[in-house]
Amino acid sequence: MNSFFYSKSEEMKKLIAGNWKMHGDKDFASGLAKGIINAVSNHLDKADILVCPPFVHIDAVANILKGSQVETGGQDCTYVEEGAYTGDVSANMLKDIGCSYVILGHSERRQYHGETSELVSKKAIAAHQAGLTTIICVGENEAERKNGQAQAVVGKQLEESLPSCATDQNTVIAYEPVWAIGSGLTAQPIDILTMHRFIYEKAQEKLESVSDLRILYGGSVKPENAAEILNTEHVHGALIGGASLKVESFLGIVSQI
Ligand code: PGA
Repeated sequence: MNSFFYSKSEEMKKLIAGNWKMHGDKDFASGLAKGIINAVSNHLDKADILVCPPFVHIDAVANILKGSQVETGGQDCTYVEEGAYTGDVSANMLKDIGCSYVILGHSERRQYHGETSELVSKKAIAAHQAGLTTIICVGENEAERKNGQAQAVVGKQLEESLPSCATDQNTVIAYEPVWAIGSGLTAQPIDILTMHRFIYEKAQEKLESVSDLRILYGGSVKPENAAEILNTEHVHGALIGGASLKVESFLGIVSQI
């Protein structure tokens, strides 16, 4: 088999990650966490489950999830360790309150906060030093896809966002075409396969080993399309926004594995 295009998709445990974004109050977050523990308990042999609540709810959620195998993550962190940085949250702080993952470079951070790939790389270094696994997001926008630049854009983002300390153990990559996020539109399986293969190939250039590298797809994943997406080759899980906010739809995705 050509190792260039080979990833252990079938053998690898999938990662299903819920990105709760800026939704809900503390009661909502606690209720959702409790509901998810019960709902996914029969699926934990097939999938790793992660939820990423807003910063202010992480403590409550992590306490509820303690001992359950469902993991907690942050949606962002800063690259500095500590100091006079009003409003920032460090990677060590996330680790301290029970996070094992952090999402970095989500397109909403890139779009609304002007985050560059260089900044994402610096954040990833801090996160790895704190012992967090990073989920590094990449993806092209609609105009870039229409102009045939999708791979060039994603390739550049990967090149610049992955720090030299990234490994297939401490890093997960999430391919999220910007035009598919929250829009109800999803990429076609062939486009997902092609891009995931390309990401795998690019990652081979950057990382020492890619045999355990997980590449997630994100963008309007829902129970109705999850089976097709999750069964696509080189797709090792999903990053889910809207559909992760209800136990029913989150379980509807998890149960397709
Ligand atoms: P969506 O969001 O599932 O609501 O499209 C995905 C994401 O932004 O991670």
